Amino acid sequence: MTLTQHVRNGWYLGAWSDEIGRTLKQRWITDLPVCFYRLPDQTVTAVEDRCPHRKYPLSLGHLDDDGTLQCDYHGYRFDGQGVCVGVAEQADKPKAALRRFPLVERDGAVWIWPGDPELADEGLLPDTSWLNDPNWTHVHGVVPLKARHLLLLENLLDLTHETFLHPTSIGNAAVAATPIDVTVDGDRVGFSRRMTGIEAPPFYEKSCGLTSPVDRWQDGDFYPPGIFVLNIRVAATGTEEPDGFHMKVLYGMTPGRGNETHDFYALGRDYLIDDQELTRFQHEQQLAVMQEDVDALEAQEIMYATDPGGTAESSIKSDLAALRGRRAVAKMLTREQQAGTARPRASA
Ligand code: FES
Ligand SMILES: [Fe+2]
Repeated sequence: MTLTQHVRNGWYLGAWSDEIGRTLKQRWITDLPVCFYRLPDQTVTAVEDRCPHRKYPLSLGHLDDDGTLQCDYHGYRFDGQGVCVGVAEQADKPKAALRRFPLVERDGAVWIWPGDPELADEGLLPDTSWLNDPNWTHVHGVVPLKARHLLLLENLLDLTHETFLHPTSIGNAAVAATPIDVTVDGDRVGFSRRMTGIEAPPFYEKSCGLTSPVDRWQDGDFYPPGIFVLNIRVAATGTEEPDGFHMKVLYGMTPGRGNETHDFYALGRDYLIDDQELTRFQHEQQLAVMQEDVDALEAQEIMYATDPGGTAESSIKSDLAALRGRRAVAKMLTREQQAGTARPRASA
């Protein structure tokens, strides 16, 4: 596994809506500096965070009430479309425009397409209506990760690791012992695992008030290059869906700068939605589990980074979804390089 370049012709979770306001926010995405902000009409916008004059970060500048963005090095000013409208009080009016990225703000998430704007297709985004559904509740956030995107992708597509990395919360022997079914649909990769009559891991025991034995289903869908949705159902053994407790986890795996990744998460449920104590417990557990993953992936990153020649990897059956995921990303990257569209073009 050597892939460290980033696919740009694809949607990534760029920010949660509640992170973006009338202050300028910088976030690196696929090695591009991006400056997010809202215009006076509340629409969110994202421009390359490099001033066309001398490359100073625009996010260190300021935003006027009318939505004009000013670079605070020499005073270039840009309108809401990213077009330069002048330089402070100087007579010069340079011809310059900022590269603006296609964005979709939906259900409290801001999706960004860092590649060729003409290829940006909203239809490729997964259904996130549960993030905005009154019958559901969720928590969300973003965790920094100093490991390459592909390691996170493989972590999520191979949940057998729950048995070993998360034994006190969501994992137990049943996870690794239960094989998965893998499906590939174009670029998308899905897997499902059906565990029946198993011991309830502590997180689910507490979250659902269930005692063993339970049935537990995992259905994961990877929308390459950077979106993963896990559907979780847990039920007392013998009851069938829809009697189970439903949870969903959305991960936005967004490459940052170099081998750093933004690990966006949202954990939702459709039962006991007003139970604040349960929400607090689940959020705490989610972050604890993610920290275990972060620690593992950062340790793994060092091993991959110091072994660039690539000693051979060994694989087993449970790697299948992760290997399909790797392949999907590699194919997207090849397509992009062949089409010469890896660099985004200005949309303004
Ligand atoms: S670098 Fe932005 S105005 Fe000079
Ligand atoms: Fe994990």
